[in-house]
Amino acid sequence: MSTLLDIRDLHISLGGRQLVDGVDLTVSKGEILGLAGESGSGKTLTALTTLGFLPHGATATGEVLVDGEDTLAMSASQLQRLRGNRVAMVFQDPMTSLHPMLTIERQLTEHQLVHRSVTKKQARARAVELLELVRIPDPERALRSYPHRFSGGMRQRIAIAAALACEPEIIVADEITTALDVTVQAGILRLLSDLRSETDAAILFITHDLAVMNVLADRLVVMRNGKVVESGDCRDVLADPQDPYTRMLVEALPPAADFGAAPSEGEDLR
Ligand SMILES: Nc1ncnc2c1ncn2[C@@H]1O[C@H](COP(=O)(O)OP(=O)(O)OP(=O)(O)O)[C@@H](O)[C@H]1O
Ligand SMILES: [Mg+2]
Repeated sequence: MSTLLDIRDLHISLGGRQLVDGVDLTVSKGEILGLAGESGSGKTLTALTTLGFLPHGATATGEVLVDGEDTLAMSASQLQRLRGNRVAMVFQDPMTSLHPMLTIERQLTEHQLVHRSVTKKQARARAVELLELVRIPDPERALRSYPHRFSGGMRQRIAIAAALACEPEIIVADEITTALDVTVQAGILRLLSDLRSETDAAILFITHDLAVMNVLADRLVVMRNGKVVESGDCRDVLADPQDPYTRMLVEALPPAADFGAAPSEGEDLR
């Protein structure tokens, strides 16, 4: 399998504090890597470096290789070409990715018009295709609408469509199901797992919810205090966690968290 994202010995420090302390992780083509860990362990900071983002005043060392190119060494214009084009990010709150005052059509075509040599008509056709891909009913009508018309789960689907617009090599999804109802969450998880087979993207999926990881992730990396404390095949790690912290997380799961279960059939498009 070819490695699309290769983070090597990443350190991020700010004001004398080590926020990320020697992280190594890789994600291959078509793979979903789960990144878990307690709040403040450095998951988001690590993920944001794939887009070349660092908190103001922070310094980073190590390498963040996107298909062999180090984002930490990229110029501003190289980063601009990278973002939304080769690496795309979806956030917990879809309204972070979607603009409330712009139609869905604008939001699904803008990146394409900037990054790809396509006509408006081609970009629009691709937008319809993207909405179909994320299972939004009546895409033509959806294109004319504004985000507020949609429920949280539907908005998250549209944010995923926007992320997919330029066929990114890497998709970073940071707690994207955390704010959703369980049934809506199951629909999004199934969508992501379908997308993995329909696109070749590498997905870096962040959540503190190990039950979600079990459904979705191929491999799992667990962080604590800026360090990787456990990594391996997702099911192996959850079945037999080696690190005391991971063991505690697994033990804290409700007994109903039935490892091995797929999202339920009755998909709810809310
Ligand atoms: N912009 C920032 N400026 C200063 N410190 C920051 C900034 N962003 C994050 N930090 C600090 O870096 C550490 C790691 O934060 P990060 O957001 O990566 O954690 P996380 O694992 O994503 O947590 P959560 O599960 O709560 O999202 C925390 O101690 C946090 O306070
Ligand atoms: Mg975070």
